[in-house]
Amino acid sequence: MIPKKILITGGAGMLATDLTEHFQSQRFYEPIALPRTALDITALDQVEAAFAAYAPDVVINTAALMVEECETSPESAYKTNTWGVRQLAQSCQRYHATFIQISSCGLFGDTIRAYHEYDSPVLKTVYAKTKQASEIFTAHFCEQYYVLRLGWLYGGQAQHRRNFVMARYREALNKPVLHSACDK
Ligand SMILES: NC(=O)c1ccc[n+]([C@@H]2O[C@H](COP(=O)([O-])OP(=O)(O)OC[C@H]3O[C@@H](n4cnc5c(N)ncnc54)[C@H](OP(=O)(O)O)[C@@H]3O)[C@@H](O)[C@H]2O)c1
Repeated sequence: MIPKKILITGGAGMLATDLTEHFQSQRFYEPIALPRTALDITALDQVEAAFAAYAPDVVINTAALMVEECETSPESAYKTNTWGVRQLAQSCQRYHATFIQISSCGLFGDTIRAYHEYDSPVLKTVYAKTKQASEIFTAHFCEQYYVLRLGWLYGGQAQHRRNFVMARYREALNKPVLHSACDK
């Protein structure tokens, strides 16, 4: 059986690293993780070159700017989280690849309760707005797609900024008491 080629964008990131490791352990998948230095999703020529070179069966887009960067630099946020996603969705459509766009539960604001996928978003941040727009582009430009609205992620390696355990460890080096979210 020919393994399915899975192109993973944002390949040096926390989720991408764990996904790559997972797919490497599966016989039927060939993960191709491309860090931003190899594939900047905002650069159309790089997106086209990556699809031409790898002809992926599946594309998982983990590339994104996070909340803090989005709030300080909305233009870059839309460029990456929304327009970059549009390019990927269009290329997936052209190459008949399945597109998996990673979105966020941040679309639903701060109220903690169970949500249905058709609940109206509560867009309190630029990050949330860019992610919602990415969902619309994904559905509009690509027929074979999934949108995953993730919650708080645990995992990654020591170098990943959002690695929960490492972040708490670094804090613990300087503080006698640690405060952390208790709703995750
Ligand atoms: N972490 C969470 O708790 C959480 C919760 C909900 C949803 N999510 C979503 O899950 C996905 C992965 O998050 P993560 O925690 O793995 O974040 P991460 O570790 O920051 O990974 C994101 C990666 O995207 C890359 N990137 C940024 N701009 C890019 C561009 N223009 N082209 C290509 N790559 C680019 C970054 O590269 P550089 O390192 O070079 O900047 C980084 O390696 C994101 O879509 C995020 O919104 C995460």
